[in-house]
Amino acid sequence: MRGVDKSFPGVHALKNVDLDVEAGDVLALLGENGAGKSTLIKVLGGAHRPDSGVIEIDGRPMEIITPQDSQRAGIGIIYQEFNLIPAMTVRENIFLGQEPGRVSIVPAGKERRRARELFDRIGVALDPDALVRDLTVAQQQIVEIAKALSLDSRIIVMDEPSAALSPREVEGLFRIVDELKSQGIGIVYVSHRLDEIFAICDHVTVLRDGTYVDSKPIGELTRDTLIELMVGRKLADEFPNRAVAKPVATDDNEVRSGLTVSNLVGGPKVRDISFNVRRGEIVALTGLVGAGRTEAARLIFGADKREAGTITLDGKELSIKSPRDAIASGICMLTEDRKGQGLILNRSVLENFGLPNLSRFTVRGLIQQKRERDAFQAYVEQLQIKVSGPKQRAGNLSGGNQQKVVLAKWLERDAEVIIFDEPTRGIDVGAKFEIYLLMRHLVEQGKAILMISSELPEVLGMADRIIVLHEGRVTGEIEDVKLATQESIMDLAVK
Ligand SMILES: Nc1ncnc2c1ncn2[C@@H]1O[C@H](COP(=O)(O)OP(=O)(O)OP(=O)(O)O)[C@@H](O)[C@H]1O
Ligand SMILES: [Mg+2]
Repeated sequence: MRGVDKSFPGVHALKNVDLDVEAGDVLALLGENGAGKSTLIKVLGGAHRPDSGVIEIDGRPMEIITPQDSQRAGIGIIYQEFNLIPAMTVRENIFLGQEPGRVSIVPAGKERRRARELFDRIGVALDPDALVRDLTVAQQQIVEIAKALSLDSRIIVMDEPSAALSPREVEGLFRIVDELKSQGIGIVYVSHRLDEIFAICDHVTVLRDGTYVDSKPIGELTRDTLIELMVGRKLADEFPNRAVAKPVATDDNEVRSGLTVSNLVGGPKVRDISFNVRRGEIVALTGLVGAGRTEAARLIFGADKREAGTITLDGKELSIKSPRDAIASGICMLTEDRKGQGLILNRSVLENFGLPNLSRFTVRGLIQQKRERDAFQAYVEQLQIKVSGPKQRAGNLSGGNQQKVVLAKWLERDAEVIIFDEPTRGIDVGAKFEIYLLMRHLVEQGKAILMISSELPEVLGMADRIIVLHEGRVTGEIEDVKLATQESIMDLAVK
């Protein structure tokens, strides 16, 4: 891609950007939230029409105006949000609409065989007749990849493919990427997880604020130099200093015990879980996916029905039957699922921020607009949310910036116990630090934080204490995080 330019009303999203991918090469496309990565990919996919610029394949200029043009040029794109039809089978989704204007007369048996061949090529087993809605996110991704391969794509683009995958599934994805690479396919890979970039990418191209910064072979970069390219300055640390975790005293000098969960049982995943999170402390709940981490959090938050167990806050037992009860009792939860969190995409970011917090900004029935706006502005600065103004539509923000608005919305609630489920998923490395800092401030003010994270470096960098779950039970607790390693956590997690 040469000299690609693209503006939206009020936003110059891409300024004269170049991108080069070679056959059999994995290119990481990197940059902060809102840098323009997804926009560039949408131009390549024929979903956005650029204001100027050219796309060449094997030196030949291509006219890519529609998604079909892009497919015909051998480009397969796996967007952040999949384009699959849940009620149809894997096979139907793969071959859907491949011959526009013609009714498919390929017999099902042949399609089934072709689908199996494609899965063989990727090195996975998947039932062609399974319904897409019954698949995990990782399996849906495989369907998207098979679909791209079935169209003879020579370039495959993946926009944050690992964001919704567990560590084990990410390994599977890496194997697939290796396999595609060995078949001479050029891959563009977008991710905010630097470990992944160093694990599978050959080259990186960095964008910043819509402009092209640089391209380099991965061998010429270290973690620090790469971060510097992305954020435009040196980042001293990836995690803020851990204050000495000290229990917070109240006025009468009595230590308030924070959140205590005893013998929690519910749903198929949570068998018997007990732990506590003192005020002034960040406790991480870890374990393999399926260990029951999110499920336990949902039971505490009242999102799912608890079958047994008690929840107390500062020694007082809470009666939580719904999220509303939880919020009223001072417990908030940021869920891992961005879409389900309900940003209202066609409303402004300010409305999205203000709606759940109306009572905080209402005095005698009147919304204090200035207070609301100032509060929002403070988060925009602190979390570096890239918005053109408070009136911008939430749906037009980049993925990571939507995530930040969700975060701001919940942080404003000022809860006593905050459950963060994968708080930095999709967030760029500079803003991650700001979120970590905010978490530290919250505990310094005496809040209790329960954190769920699949990224072990994040757990080790942020938690004061680690609780490890396995198959719905607590299998270990690490009191002194300084002595913990990724290996020691994993040991407890598979017990
Ligand atoms: N349809 C649109 N209308 C208006 N502005 C848009 C639209 N799509 C993207 N933008 C803006 O273009 C800029 C680049 O967004 P883009 O989604 O490409 O970022 P990104 O690099 O993919 O970020 P992230 O890491 O958060 O996914 C942002 O400022 C975004 O708000
Ligand atoms: Mg994006």
